[in-house]
Amino acid sequence: MIQENCRIVDHSQLAPRYFKIVFSSDHIAKTARPGQFVNIRVSNELTPLLRRPLSIHQSDPEKGTFTLLYETIGYGTELLSKKLVGSELNILGPLGNGFEVVNDIALLVAGGMGIAPLGFLAREAIKSKKDVYCFIGAKNEGLVLCEEGLKSLGAKVTVATEDGSRGEKGLVTHSLEKFLKDFRLTIDGKRLTIYACGPRPMLKAVAAIAAQNNFECRVSMEAYLACGIGACKGCAVDTIEGYRMVCKDGPVFDAKGIKWE
Ligand SMILES: Cc1cc2nc3c(=O)[nH]c(=O)nc-3n(C[C@H](O)[C@H](O)[C@H](O)COP(=O)(O)OP(=O)(O)OC[C@H]3O[C@@H](n4cnc5c(N)ncnc54)[C@H](O)[C@@H]3O)c2cc1C
Ligand code: FES
Repeated sequence: MIQENCRIVDHSQLAPRYFKIVFSSDHIAKTARPGQFVNIRVSNELTPLLRRPLSIHQSDPEKGTFTLLYETIGYGTELLSKKLVGSELNILGPLGNGFEVVNDIALLVAGGMGIAPLGFLAREAIKSKKDVYCFIGAKNEGLVLCEEGLKSLGAKVTVATEDGSRGEKGLVTHSLEKFLKDFRLTIDGKRLTIYACGPRPMLKAVAAIAAQNNFECRVSMEAYLACGIGACKGCAVDTIEGYRMVCKDGPVFDAKGIKWE
């Protein structure tokens, strides 16, 4: 992990509150693993004082760049959305443990901006010859991200929107359950892992589905981060082994270990 000033080489708006930003950094591009994140100082002023964490969506070691997807939520991400190509921001990364692709079949479940770390995971899993199925959940068609990109990589993609404007109507967890009912019969001894990122209620539902089906499940958890490196103990998540730090022990955890209630 290093701290460096990274230049913005591309920055575009994807939907009313969704943005994609590309930074130049040889180190992060070469060392990042899917599921890891960077912690960004979005301003040189006193506020916001704390860095803002964003997952690494893709990295390109040849070009020396990495890409983030983000949603504007409050002051920090609003400030970030105004930054121009060519300007530099101070970035700490790559941070966190990341996903490990262990089994032959990877089922990726994204809720909203939860697609951010899963794009990188899909690409790496396909590179290592895994079968990748992606479930993308969004409120409506305009907020569905990465569908074409994932298909062109070779992933099988199911989209679910809450208003039914694209793909299946309803929650992405319903699409996952429906898929598993049929798919379970054809798994044929191959082992399967579910990887999920999204709002906590969605992660809890995915963890329950995985447990019912006896599948392994890894979830990327969110918390408010302060230091981002395990020093302040401000980002605790309650697990069966006690409190763990999202920034250092995570953000990826075994879903079985999380105390969801
Ligand atoms: C490891 C990690 C990876 C992340 N990756 C991404 C990513 O790839 N893309 C992305 O868009 N976002 C991601 N986030 C969330 C992102 O960091 C927050 O949305 C951002 O820090 C909000 O900053 P802000 O200044 O805009 O909002 P603030 O002004 O700090 O907050 C505004 C309001 O938003 C809510 N909020 C803010 N941060 C969080 C949070 N972490 N969890 C729950 N609610 C929150 C609170 O209700 C708060 O009152 C990630 C978070 C973590 C911990
Ligand atoms: S943010 Fe300080 S320990 Fe995680």
